[in-house]
Amino acid sequence: MDGSHPLYQDSTDYACFGGASRCSTQNEKCRHGLFSSLPNNQAQVYNASPSKGRSITIVLTHRSIIMTFLTLSFAALLAYISLPFKPIATVALDNGIGKLPFMGYNTWNAYHCDIDEDLILQTAQLMKSLGLADLGYEHMNIDDCWAEKNRSVSGDLVANATRFPSGFNNLTSQIHDLGLKAGIYSDSGWFTCQLYPGSYLNEARDAEQFQNWGFDLLKYDNCAVPFDEIIDLGMIGKYTRMADAIANLSATTGEPPLLYSLCQWGREQPWLWARKLGQTWRTTDDIDADWEHLASIINQNSFITWASDFYGHNDMDILEVGNGNLTFDEAKSHFTAWSLMKSPLLIGTDLTAVTNETLEVLMNPEIIAINQDPVVGTSISPFRWGINPDWTFNATHPAQYWSGQSQNGTIFMLLNVLDESADMFFNLTESPWINAGRQYSVRDLWTHTNNGTAVRNFTANAVPAHGVVVLLAQDAGPEPAGTQPPCARPEWCIDQNGTLVQ
Ligand code: GAL
Repeated sequence: MDGSHPLYQDSTDYACFGGASRCSTQNEKCRHGLFSSLPNNQAQVYNASPSKGRSITIVLTHRSIIMTFLTLSFAALLAYISLPFKPIATVALDNGIGKLPFMGYNTWNAYHCDIDEDLILQTAQLMKSLGLADLGYEHMNIDDCWAEKNRSVSGDLVANATRFPSGFNNLTSQIHDLGLKAGIYSDSGWFTCQLYPGSYLNEARDAEQFQNWGFDLLKYDNCAVPFDEIIDLGMIGKYTRMADAIANLSATTGEPPLLYSLCQWGREQPWLWARKLGQTWRTTDDIDADWEHLASIINQNSFITWASDFYGHNDMDILEVGNGNLTFDEAKSHFTAWSLMKSPLLIGTDLTAVTNETLEVLMNPEIIAINQDPVVGTSISPFRWGINPDWTFNATHPAQYWSGQSQNGTIFMLLNVLDESADMFFNLTESPWINAGRQYSVRDLWTHTNNGTAVRNFTANAVPAHGVVVLLAQDAGPEPAGTQPPCARPEWCIDQNGTLVQ
């Protein structure tokens, strides 16, 4: 056995400290560092079963115990003072929920504060009857304005008696009976954004309340922040308070944890830390139903696509499909980008008046299948910005050429950010997921047609203004022999005899 460990020694050796190498005789000093070689009558000696048939002796002396204690204390101190400098691990919290981006409905975009139990039940029933639930839209989430302005005398949150006269247990059990899940909303500060009670200092009580009411998900907002000297925490600490409450509650009750959906608008880079606390994190300020907001959100998220994977997802905000003056093409681009970038998909339009066009967008099964891919959890990413130089941050003209993996092949998203239609051309091997020397069958996931085989490149003709083309490329064998030039990517293309091809 290696004698460098302070307590474990071969029986022929004597205890060494401070990383010393083994001692060979009782009187020989350990070659490096401190040593101990007290006679056996001053030492406690423990024999442990040796792995290779040799006896191993643990020698404990007063001095060795003190030295070990000092060494461990020093190590603990070192670990403690170096803590702030350690990078936060990016492994996602896997508490059994939220592996895929969650899908469902949220009341905010369509109704703001104008919500009540009838509306929520009716919406849940429509999710079912319109077939949305069958496609995966399973969460019926209540946003802000559900509460009474004051807590009860015992300090509990109270559902607004006018809007929710039957109480939440009744409502959530009807939602569950439809095969759906129920979501609720609160805030990490003193109040919600509409000045209803927030959960600050009441995290454990409120988490328990939400669970007792039958909710499965909590959206947690960022308004009404306590003064610095009161909260004494940064953004991570503020959101950890509720993360801990949710985890403790689940540990105590044995119930699955509430799905924790952090809503703090992308402040303090939640994509770096929120995966340790919850399942999704908003990345931007609030969405609105116009192309300007959609383009800006796509642009911001194009730089953090790496942050979404199983159990942790960039939340690009509630969908505006069906709202405002979005054109059909803009709605398709919106839904495509959110889906392929693995954002939660929350419908935010009035389902009692939903048009077939809106349903056609929200219910494209081939696009949803990529969002909900059980094998590949990662987002698409830009491989070429297009009209802008690569890596340009441009809120009105985000990246145009994107690709990513799916369980069925490589996905391409071509986004026309211009105000007029345009042809969009790319070489297949511009995408890292394509193999050189292969040809690819191409399926269009919006027209639902197979569009032949692409060799080397592809052109989408006349992509409408603010429109999108989504392609699934599958390997269709070697490209035709003799395809020229010998390398699709000309950089450093060379014959094995050393002749460079320009
Ligand atoms: C905002 C949030 C919105 C909505 C609203 C409710 O902070 O981003 O999605 O929840 O609060 O007041």
